[in-house]
Amino acid sequence: MLNLAVLVSGGGTNLQAIIDAIGAGKLTGVKIVKVISNKEGAYALERAKKHGIEAVCISPKSFAARDEYFREMEDTIKDSGADLIVLAGFLVVLSDSFVRAFEGRIINIHPSLIPSFCGDGFYGLKVHEEALKRGVKVTGATVHFVDEGTDTGPIILQKAVYIENDDTPEILQKRVMEQAEWIILPKAIQAIADGRVRLENGRAVVEMCKGEKI
Ligand code: GAR
Repeated sequence: MLNLAVLVSGGGTNLQAIIDAIGAGKLTGVKIVKVISNKEGAYALERAKKHGIEAVCISPKSFAARDEYFREMEDTIKDSGADLIVLAGFLVVLSDSFVRAFEGRIINIHPSLIPSFCGDGFYGLKVHEEALKRGVKVTGATVHFVDEGTDTGPIILQKAVYIENDDTPEILQKRVMEQAEWIILPKAIQAIADGRVRLENGRAVVEMCKGEKI
């Protein structure tokens, strides 16, 4: 069993996609042991509680220093018995020591095709605003391992989504979630749980299941 700690900041639709995939038997050998939000009122916490999953808010604001916050996060995650940390719309930049403490065991979902529209300042709706501003015709989502940089870790899965002429950032965000994020995040977790992801020369190599399409 691969135990997951899912870190969230907002609505939690990606968390919901993981919960639903487990419920539907599409994601197996995986259990969510903890959901942690940095924001008190995050709806993601409600989603977790509705499904009987332990959910807590650990706010950076409650700590005098950043390293104290991350020490608490580290202790809570270690106590939960999580093997893999999933950043599912978690909008706090991780400290280097936190990333090192869980090296190779943190993944993130990002709402673009990395290396486009990523890095510092690119999160949530902002990513889609920039894609529309640039006039790209194709965008998508990426699941990647987290390293000490911002959105620089090895890419596990990506899925492309077409942009339409009258898209607004909100419409595009919804399409990217529906057509890419909610599909590739559970698939990436399944691949890790199955031991089908390996690192080679700083890149992630994923063995797909026979006939599996992204
Ligand atoms: C998602 O679109 C996710 O890809 C994005 O935040 C949203 C969270 O939605 N993450 C980032 O931008 C990270 N750089 P959710 O709370 O409904 O899952």
